[in-house]
Amino acid sequence: MWSGRHVVLGVSGGIACYKSCYLARHLTEAGARVDVVLTRSAAEFVRPVTFEALTGRPVMASLWDRDAALSHVRWGQQADVVIVAPATAHLIARMAQGLADDALTSVLLAATAPVLLAPAMNDEMFAHPQTQVNLALLERRGVTVVGPAIGPLAEGPSSRPGRMSEPAAIAAHAARLLRRGSRLEGKRVVVTAGPTREAIDPVRVVTNRSSGKMGYRLAEVAWERGADVQLISGPVMLEPPVGVQVTRIDSTAELEQAVREALPAADILVMAAAPADYRPREFSASKRSRIDGALAIPFEPTADILRATRDARRAESIIVGFALETGDALAKGRQKLERKELDLIVVNDALEPGAGTEVDTNRVAILGRDGSSTIVPLGTKREVAEAILDAVEARLG
Ligand code: CTP
Repeated sequence: MWSGRHVVLGVSGGIACYKSCYLARHLTEAGARVDVVLTRSAAEFVRPVTFEALTGRPVMASLWDRDAALSHVRWGQQADVVIVAPATAHLIARMAQGLADDALTSVLLAATAPVLLAPAMNDEMFAHPQTQVNLALLERRGVTVVGPAIGPLAEGPSSRPGRMSEPAAIAAHAARLLRRGSRLEGKRVVVTAGPTREAIDPVRVVTNRSSGKMGYRLAEVAWERGADVQLISGPVMLEPPVGVQVTRIDSTAELEQAVREALPAADILVMAAAPADYRPREFSASKRSRIDGALAIPFEPTADILRATRDARRAESIIVGFALETGDALAKGRQKLERKELDLIVVNDALEPGAGTEVDTNRVAILGRDGSSTIVPLGTKREVAEAILDAVEARLG
């Protein structure tokens, strides 16, 4: 997503400057060309050479630097996005006034690229009516503001906004800004992810090997493309994607209930979860003791959620299912597409190296109800998520 993109990263002087180093590094590693502009105070916190080493590019720290005379106008016009992190109360005030008394404010005044601010300051400074007026003015002019978050400040604990958002969150918001114009913009996308667990007794469960990674990457990319995303997640150890509303479930019955509640508002449902198909017929309220000999526990089927919730779908919604098979995947996938009345089905073969559960890559085929089929070569789950959402967008078109 960042490959070949040009980012101008403005840094004003606050202790959160150290986090801007991580942001510069993150964007550079992701393939972006990152040009850093520092205010005089920022250069007191982190010297320009640090950013030069992290980005591999010269840094602008003064209007009187060599080459700054033209760069301060050009950078904000040639960039794909201008990010200011941290944006101090003083920088925000200067920006709102249209001042251009140093390199960063000059870049900002001449900028035509979208601008994103990540404010960071003392919580009283942020709550000050003048700071609020300044930010509201900048937002009305089209500036995107991310954070500040609530959390500890340099001066101690705080329960009010002031702390700069984390670099990953800032990068995700910048990515969403860059991808404006997607057909998913403003759409309500519901993604299910991970396994479900069926309890045998208070300490034992039956589950499967689903890691949730495919669903989490789908939610992440859908949000970046401008969608309003609900992620219904089974028990997994993954960091929730930025911006996404997460609903936690445990059993297949809870997943069914959550999907049923989400469907009336959903434009798109992507059912990437791997619900358990059976549950123990009886739940033992106390822990089962070890017995001599073999143990037989009777199981009963759970609901097929995609089929059971068909009545809750909107007529125009797009429903995407998955089929994880072990052999003859395309034929079985097409049968599932029909049986579950889907618009698209993403088919993969668990026996193929690099595909299926627990790995970071996948190789899939996307089959459409219209008979279409797209083969997505082996790639990261993020790349596969992009391809799946491309197929969804093609249907929206
Ligand atoms: N699915 C569902 N409810 C279930 C099981 C699966 O809605 N109880 C959904 C999955 O989220 C997936 C699709 O149905 O999108 C296909 O899942 P899969 O496990 O491959 O299909 P099953 O219907 O369980 O069929 P089988 O196990 O016989 O292959």
